[in-house]
Amino acid sequence: MSYNLLKGKKGIIFGALDENSIAWKTAERAHEEGAEFVLTNAPIAMRMGTIKDLAAKTGSQIIPADATSMEDLENLVEKSMEILGGKIDFVLHSIGMSVNVRKGKLYTDPKYDFTTKGWDVSAVSFHKVMNVLYNKEAMNEWGSVVALTYMAAQRVFPDYNDMADNKAYLESIARSFGYFFGRDHKVRVNTISQSPTPTTAGSGVKGFEGFLAYADKMSPLGNATALECADYTISMFSDLTKKVTLQNLFHDGGFSNMGVSDAVMDKFIEE
Ligand SMILES: NC(=O)c1ccc[n+]([C@@H]2O[C@H](COP(=O)([O-])OP(=O)(O)OC[C@H]3O[C@@H](n4cnc5c(N)ncnc54)[C@H](O)[C@@H]3O)[C@@H](O)[C@H]2O)c1
Repeated sequence: MSYNLLKGKKGIIFGALDENSIAWKTAERAHEEGAEFVLTNAPIAMRMGTIKDLAAKTGSQIIPADATSMEDLENLVEKSMEILGGKIDFVLHSIGMSVNVRKGKLYTDPKYDFTTKGWDVSAVSFHKVMNVLYNKEAMNEWGSVVALTYMAAQRVFPDYNDMADNKAYLESIARSFGYFFGRDHKVRVNTISQSPTPTTAGSGVKGFEGFLAYADKMSPLGNATALECADYTISMFSDLTKKVTLQNLFHDGGFSNMGVSDAVMDKFIEE
């Protein structure tokens, strides 16, 4: 269902790789809600994914950018303003990657070059994106910037590996940069902490199926889907949430406040 929540708004959406991506669903929903936007992803993802189909479906242009490269980001923001014919109202940072996880390194014995690379891609890139938007004065007043995160920033999920540390850093950047962006440009900055979701990035976590089922059984409302995350993100881009900023917003069916549920207890009670 469409409510025209983003009618007339212009945005940049990072991270749509394939139709499972949270960014993909968000782009589809933003289009339905009347927004115009530019899609972007790392140049290598252009070859792997199917972003062109999404661009055709949503009438969007694609500008490749490695989110760790200031040069690429400057080009992205300048070109986006040209294409969209003005400043930006919303930005989604939907980017995550741990080289240690990919290469099967343990948290207790990582390769630190991999740690640095994963931190740059998953966390510092958010600072770089906001640096370019802020210093180019590319955002309209009451614009909204959202990054996606996971609760391993607050609690221990051993197989989430160094992504836990990257997410903690990402959430801190949202608060710190959000202060300056709010004070100087009336732009709000938040992170959405999403349930485990079957996507390329999500499925890379060891034991993902168990992880997914456990979270679902623990949450009174069950896991939030990628589409539901897209809906929530759209509300954060809309004018209905203008005074929400510097927040880490849990979108997880209630998981983050649970101790234990009946469904999980039942698994441990012997007949
Ligand atoms: N899937 C989950 O279980 C889950 C849960 C909570 C939060 N998240 C977060 O949601 C976000 C989106 O992930 P997803 O689950 O949709 O998976 P996904 O694999 O579809 O998306 C990750 C994206 O990051 C992009 N990316 C990687 N390196 C990049 C770079 N250098 N420059 C630009 N883009 C780059 C990839 O190309 C890909 O499009 C991530 O931040 C992820 O950590 C995912």
